[in-house]
Amino acid sequence: SGVERLGDMIAEAKTIVPFTGAGISTECGIPDFRSPGGLWTRYRPIEFGEFVASQEARDESWRRRFAMEEVFAAAKPGRGHRALASLYRAGKIPGVITQNIDNLHQASGFAPEHVIELHGNTTYARCIGCGQAYPLDWVKRRFDDDGAAPNCTACDEPVKTATISFGQMMPEDEMQRATELSQACDLFIAIGSSLVVWPAAGFPMMAKNAGARLVIINREPTEQDDIADLVIHHDIGETLGPFVAN
Ligand code: OAD
Ligand code: ZN
Repeated sequence: SGVERLGDMIAEAKTIVPFTGAGISTECGIPDFRSPGGLWTRYRPIEFGEFVASQEARDESWRRRFAMEEVFAAAKPGRGHRALASLYRAGKIPGVITQNIDNLHQASGFAPEHVIELHGNTTYARCIGCGQAYPLDWVKRRFDDDGAAPNCTACDEPVKTATISFGQMMPEDEMQRATELSQACDLFIAIGSSLVVWPAAGFPMMAKNAGARLVIINREPTEQDDIADLVIHHDIGETLGPFVAN
């Protein structure tokens, strides 16, 4: 079966690089983007340019974030996260590349420097001008007091979740490290991503072109199933659960 082949490939690999999307966190209660009920079936994304240009867009963006706070605060690593953390502790995974912003790889035991966050992190905020970090509590208090999304106390530019929005520059350092990891592994496993958002979606192919074997684990078919060595159209928790070390 697919899971047995995956087990063999994991056993044979020296260096495994996982690449994760929202599907790894759905069992943790966090909705994905493009499945039925996903975020982009309910909301239109607020692009970076709109956020910069409009106080109304910033207020709406923060209202959406606060509405999700209980979900993010309660989320615990799922079986997929825990399986990857087990392989990381076993020395097989030098780092995980993620499109996720939920901090759950860190929560599962990855050192922060081994989580490459291509789309940032939603568990804290940053000034888009000077980069000053702010806790979400601070933003919430200011929002409640002023009735509007706050600006930076240092430079007066808008404060945004520390995530990458459509239209925003990709983080250079993370892109560089993701490139190095993709080119240096012998097994690359894309987990829970529709693989439609670029440049993130370029890493599976980059790994494949550099000689890695490519596995895709996703309930639905993805754009890149045809270039994979193994495709598992199955639930992530069930597929990776057997790799959680006790
Ligand atoms: P998507 O919502 O596009 O894709 C998630 C995939 O996971 C879907 O194809 C689901 O079928 C699959 N899935 C969900 N739960 C699963 C489960 N339990 N088992 C197996 N498969 C499951 O999410 P991403 O590909 O992560 O970026 O989205 C990429 C980017 O688009 C995000 O990082 C975000 C979004 O816009 C930005 O906002 C910049
Ligand atoms: Zn600032």
